[in-house]
Amino acid sequence: MENILILGIESSCDETSVSVVRNGREVLSNVINSQIDIHKEYGGVVPEIASRCHTEVINQITKQAVKEAGIKLNDIDAIAVTQGPGLVGALLVGVSYAKGLSYVLKKPLIGTNHIEGHIAGNYLTYPDLKPPFLCLIISGGHTHLVKVSGYKEFEILGKTRDDAVGEAFDKVARVIDLGYPGGPKIDNLAKEGKVNIKLPLAHVDGLDFSFSGIKTAVINMHHKDPNINKADLCASFENAVSEMLLANVNKAIEMYGFDKIVLAGGVSRNSYIRKKFDEYKESHNVEVYYPEPILCTDNAAMIASAGYYNYINGKESKLNMNAIPNLKIGE
Ligand code: KG4
Ligand code: ZN
Repeated sequence: MENILILGIESSCDETSVSVVRNGREVLSNVINSQIDIHKEYGGVVPEIASRCHTEVINQITKQAVKEAGIKLNDIDAIAVTQGPGLVGALLVGVSYAKGLSYVLKKPLIGTNHIEGHIAGNYLTYPDLKPPFLCLIISGGHTHLVKVSGYKEFEILGKTRDDAVGEAFDKVARVIDLGYPGGPKIDNLAKEGKVNIKLPLAHVDGLDFSFSGIKTAVINMHHKDPNINKADLCASFENAVSEMLLANVNKAIEMYGFDKIVLAGGVSRNSYIRKKFDEYKESHNVEVYYPEPILCTDNAAMIASAGYYNYINGKESKLNMNAIPNLKIGE
């Protein structure tokens, strides 16, 4: 099959995005409407406001994505839409819109997993990247270490037992008054600080993670001494998080012998984490991949790419498809 055009639709959280991707690898357009400015007033995503904003803009974003791709809506081969995981009301906007398009255009509807989408962000960044590899997905909602054996073959090796990494970034940033979303704010401030504060790393058996201890220690230090240097606190926080992530990646490499580590999700934009993984790459003779920054955070191109691999594997959804807020990877 050649020249397959997938229209991707993403509305799982606070970005409305529509994209056209050719053959799972080439982004023809990727329009993203972020609601961050609306939610930052509340210090986090307000689910009902998110759903309403998706409803207002989704048609316009779709028109723009089709126009920027230089195609006609009827040229697409299938519609891939995020089915889950995510906020149910937000997901339902994209799912319902995709169903309408599928019905009217008589094109297949492909329900697609958001986490598999994050992984696929790397297929768009590296057109020659193929499984098998070890994938570390670090986002606002998820922290998963996954063995990716094929485009549709996943095995979760470890996950967080408490906060997702991005959630820990956002909570720390809120308490030390950096605002929302916290990840990019901590990333910037940490560049001015030193790693000089020792933070406790939870001991977790196997390949699971825990970030709540690190987060709570940072928050307690700030409460105990409001004049503590915030830049040092951020730098030390990022260092502790990186140590926790790398410890399990290292264990997985020793257990399974992967030669490629692929990062995905919003937190994989973090410059300190990237630096630490680059150092690991040099000392351990493995390849490390990260999506280009815009493909790390939520976007529809990654959904179109993951949807392409569903499509060529014959995974088509029916018009009674529902949103699944806790959809698991590989389901
Ligand atoms: O993947 P994503 O857009 O949404 C989810 O599927 O959860 O990830 C959003 C998360 C937020 O927690 C945000 O603070 C974090 O990614 N993030 C970052 C950076 N940019 C975004 N965390 C650390 N450093 C960054 N530069
Ligand atoms: Zn995401």
